[in-house]
Amino acid sequence: MKFHLVHIKMAILSVAMIFYTCSTSSTNGLHPLILIPGSGGNQLEARLTAEYKSTSFWCNRWYPLKKDPDGWFRIWFDSFVLLRPFTKCFSKRMMTYYDPDEDDYHNAPGVETRVPHFGSTEGLLYLDPSLKHITSYMEPLVRSLEEIGYISGKNLFGAPYDFRYALAAEGHPSKVGSKFLSDLKNLIESASSSNGDKPVILLSHSLGGLFALRLLNQSPTSWRRKYIKHFITLSAPWGGTVDEMLTFASGNTLGVPLVDPLMVREEQRSSASNLWLLPSPKVFNRTKPLVITPNRSYSSSDIAKFLQDIGFPEGVHPYKTRVLPLVESLPAPQVPVTCVFGSGVKTPETLFYKDFEKRPDVVFGDGDGTVNMISLLALESAWSGRKGQLLKVIKLPGVSHISVLKDKTSLGKITGEVSSINSESSRSLVHWF
Ligand SMILES: *[C@@H]1O[C@H](CO)[C@@H](O)[C@H](O)[C@H]1NC(C)=O
Ligand SMILES: *[C@@H]1O[C@H](CO)[C@@H](O)[C@H](O)[C@H]1NC(C)=O
Repeated sequence: MKFHLVHIKMAILSVAMIFYTCSTSSTNGLHPLILIPGSGGNQLEARLTAEYKSTSFWCNRWYPLKKDPDGWFRIWFDSFVLLRPFTKCFSKRMMTYYDPDEDDYHNAPGVETRVPHFGSTEGLLYLDPSLKHITSYMEPLVRSLEEIGYISGKNLFGAPYDFRYALAAEGHPSKVGSKFLSDLKNLIESASSSNGDKPVILLSHSLGGLFALRLLNQSPTSWRRKYIKHFITLSAPWGGTVDEMLTFASGNTLGVPLVDPLMVREEQRSSASNLWLLPSPKVFNRTKPLVITPNRSYSSSDIAKFLQDIGFPEGVHPYKTRVLPLVESLPAPQVPVTCVFGSGVKTPETLFYKDFEKRPDVVFGDGDGTVNMISLLALESAWSGRKGQLLKVIKLPGVSHISVLKDKTSLGKITGEVSSINSESSRSLVHWF
C-alpha cells in the first residue's frame, strides 16, 4: 500500500510538472514587458468635491454627463470637451498649481484625480473607450506584441500615470511623480516574480522614457541587474523640444481643429511635465536662437527669460530650481537601451514671433514632427564612449512622433527588437545549462 501511495504521489508530481512546463511555455518564456505611455497617453479620472467652484452654470449642469456612484468620471479623455462651452471648464479642472511654500504642485481646489487601471494595458489602449477608433493610442502596439506571444495581465503590463506632473531635481519634493516611480518599481518586481523571476523589458513612449530613465538611475546597480532586461524607448524627447516653447507661448491644440489654443494654454503652462520638456541647455546648443522676436532672441539657456517675457513669470522659479538642475544630467543606467524614433519629418526648429499671443512663423528642421533630432539623439552624444552602456539607435525615416505606435514598419521593428531581446536570453540559457 505504502509503495503504491508513493507511486501515486510521484505520478501526481510529474503531472504537476508537465502542467507547470506547459503553463510556462504558454507564455513562451518571454521576458515580462511593461508599457509606459507618453504625456496624455492614458486615461485619468476626476471627482469634484464640495470645495469645487464651477466656472459656469452650463459647465456644472452638463459636464460630466456620466459619473459613477462615487462621483468619478473620465476627465482625460472625453471628446465632449471639444464643444466650446466645455473646453474652458475642462481646462480649469485639469489645471495644476505650484505652491511655493510646499515647493510642489497640486490639483485645482476641489478636484480629486486618480489613474485607472494601473498595472494593466487597459487605460492606454484608447483615451476615450467610447470613441475607440479616433482615440486609439497604444492599441496597435499591444496587438502586435500579442502576435509575438505576449498576453495582457500575464506577461504584458501597463504603467499609466498622471502625466501633468513631473519629477524634480534632488532636494525638491514631487509627491505625485515620485509615487508613480515607486508604483512602477513595485510593478517591475511583481511582473518579474510572476514570470519565473525573469528580468523585465521596459517599453516607453515619449515622456514615459524620461520617467523610466530616472527610476533606473536612482535604483541600486544590484536591483537593475536583477530586474531589468532591457529598456526600449520610442520617440523620447531627452532634451525637450522647441515645439514646447510654442505650447508655452501660444498654446497647442495637439492637432484638434475645433479647439482655440489660447483656451487651453493656461492649463498647459501649469503642467510641471510641460516645463520639464522645454529645450534643455544640456542638449540644445546654448547660443543657437530657438525663438526670435523683434526685441531679442532666446536660446536654450534663456528659457527663464522666455517664460518671463511670454507672460508666465510664475513658471520662472520652479523652472530654475526644479527643472534646470534635473535636466543638466543624463546619466547612463548601465542596462541595455534601444532608442527607436522617426526622422525626416518637418519639426519646429526656430519660431519667429511678432506677438506671443499670435501663431508664430516656423522654420522646420529634422525630427519626428514633434521632437527635434538633437533631442532624440541626445543619449548617443551624452553616453558616447561610456564603458558598459549598451545603446542601440533605430531611426525610422518618415515616421512621426505618434505614428511610431501605429505605422506597420515601425511596429515590425519594435516587435523584432523585443523578439531578439527574448531570444538572446534563451541562447544564453542554453549556454548556461
Ligand atoms: C551653436 O550655435 C551657434 C550660433 O548659431 C553657432 O555659431 C555654433 O557653431 C553652434 N555650435 C555647435 C557646436 O553647433
Ligand atoms: C517687445 O518689446 C515691447 C516693449 O517692451 C513689448 O511691448 C512687446 O510685447 C515685446 N514683443 C515681444 C514679442 O516680445
